[in-house]
Amino acid sequence: MKLEDLQENWNKFGETDPLWGILAWPDKTENRWQVDAFFETGVEEIDAVLAYVADLGLEPGFDAALDFGCGVGRLSQALARRFDIVHGVDISPAMIELAQQYNHHGERCRYHLNETDDLRLFEDKTFDFIYSNITLQHMPPRYASAYIAEFLRLLTPGGVLIFQIPSAPKRRLRRLIQPLRPTRPWRMYQKWRYGDHPVMDMYGIPQTQVLQLLKTHGGKLVDVQSDDSADAAWISYRYCVTKPLS
Ligand SMILES: C[S@@+](CC[C@H](N)C(=O)[O-])C[C@H]1O[C@@H](n2cnc3c(N)ncnc32)[C@H](O)[C@@H]1O
Repeated sequence: MKLEDLQENWNKFGETDPLWGILAWPDKTENRWQVDAFFETGVEEIDAVLAYVADLGLEPGFDAALDFGCGVGRLSQALARRFDIVHGVDISPAMIELAQQYNHHGERCRYHLNETDDLRLFEDKTFDFIYSNITLQHMPPRYASAYIAEFLRLLTPGGVLIFQIPSAPKRRLRRLIQPLRPTRPWRMYQKWRYGDHPVMDMYGIPQTQVLQLLKTHGGKLVDVQSDDSADAAWISYRYCVTKPLS
């Protein structure tokens, strides 16, 4: 699956039902999210995540944060209440355009369209805090792995990285067909089944591979928690990682 296909799919959500594309609550389809209520979920999420970081005894700086897969800025806006500068990155032009419209923090919250499978738009050691939720689960593992490696390059020593990614489908049959999903025949099947409607494809990386990836790129795992923000059909985890000072 090419990155352009991923972009086209997410841009369709951005153009048709962006808030539901981000938080797919069953009663909020067809643009039924109230904007204030939607952004309030971001504030609650970020407050809870930063409380969790503090409970772990971690003390990242509060200069700069990255929100990867920012969508319309639900989490970036909440991060901007706590960090001096926030950068939100997304692959969908429509999402980024909306994020800019919903921005209440001026230059302190900057949004970037990124159409590459890396984050070369940022220099090494730029961010004290990197957060990515319900994003890596929607791309084939080779892309998710590349971005996780990039997160560790971008993290300041002593910084904190938190991301969520599923490990495997819960059901055996789904585990068996999962490798087909990024392939061309699967995409043709989806096109036949859903036509031009965007789809919320799910992918994961087994926990053992995530841990190996973190080690390879200099990350130190602090904590890993079961996570229920993914599709209920998946086993999913939230990883909390630091980059050692030396
Ligand atoms: C389910 S939404 C979650 C948005 C945000 N993390 C939140 O929780 O409010 C997933 C987002 O990831 C973005 N996305 C998907 N693939 C991406 C990629 N390769 N790079 C950056 N963003 C991507 C989509 O455009 C979409 O805005």
